[in-house]
Amino acid sequence: MEVVVNAAMSVDGKLSSYERRQIAISGPADFDRVDALRAESDAVMVGVGTVLADDPSLTLDDERRKERRSAAGKPANPARVIADSRIRTPPDARVLDDEAETYLLVSEAAPADFVTEMRGAGATVLQAGENRVDLETAFAALESHGIDQLMVEGGGEIIASLFEAGLVDRLSVFVGSLVIGGRNAPTLADGDGFVEAFPELALESVEKLDDGVLLSYTC
Ligand SMILES: NC(=O)c1ccc[n+]([C@@H]2O[C@H](COP(=O)([O-])OP(=O)(O)OC[C@H]3O[C@@H](n4cnc5c(N)ncnc54)[C@H](OP(=O)(O)O)[C@@H]3O)[C@@H](O)[C@H]2O)c1
Repeated sequence: MEVVVNAAMSVDGKLSSYERRQIAISGPADFDRVDALRAESDAVMVGVGTVLADDPSLTLDDERRKERRSAAGKPANPARVIADSRIRTPPDARVLDDEAETYLLVSEAAPADFVTEMRGAGATVLQAGENRVDLETAFAALESHGIDQLMVEGGGEIIASLFEAGLVDRLSVFVGSLVIGGRNAPTLADGDGFVEAFPELALESVEKLDDGVLLSYTC
């Protein structure tokens, strides 16, 4: 499976404010690029922190992209994948609506009644890891469900874990021309931080887009 991480951050590396409030970091050209990237993917993933903060739908905006996918025999929208160890996703979250298939990656510690509730809401629940989702095992399970191209949209906790596990193949990051600040504001890679063996990337391209810069790396 190829894993592509995409995010928008401020010049100081923040994904959102310290209140975890979504900030308009990019502009229309970048939104369109992200929509195109989603359309090329079999699934779009976020951590439960992003579901709780933003309640995203993770579906395509451009109807023509949905039509093109349908014409190619694919579902109109890519599937959604949520990493949610103990099932904190609210039953009325938009990622559980009927617009696309949803995979919930959970740990063995997820309460059985919540698992039943999520299955009832139409989600495919995949269990991997004792207390926290074991991403490597969960990704192997996703692959067996036909997901070969996975786009990860954040947030900082899940991105950090993916780098730590060596699971990121490509990173694209839009750097918007603003400063968000705040020592507790989410950054591109949070987690505990690396002490040695810092993940190193190869810069592939730099492009001016909207009022910012798109940086593309292979990992
Ligand atoms: N600018 C952007 O491009 C962008 C994109 C997305 C999000 N955001 C912002 O980012 C913020 C949310 O980021 P976040 O870091 O709090 O949340 P996140 O990365 O979306 O989700 C983190 C949660 O995922 C769960 N998880 C399950 N397995 C995990 C694993 N193996 N490793 C790490 N986490 C795992 C954990 O909760 P459990 O332990 O309960 O499972 C963890 O707390 C919001 O403010 C949102 O607006 C910005």
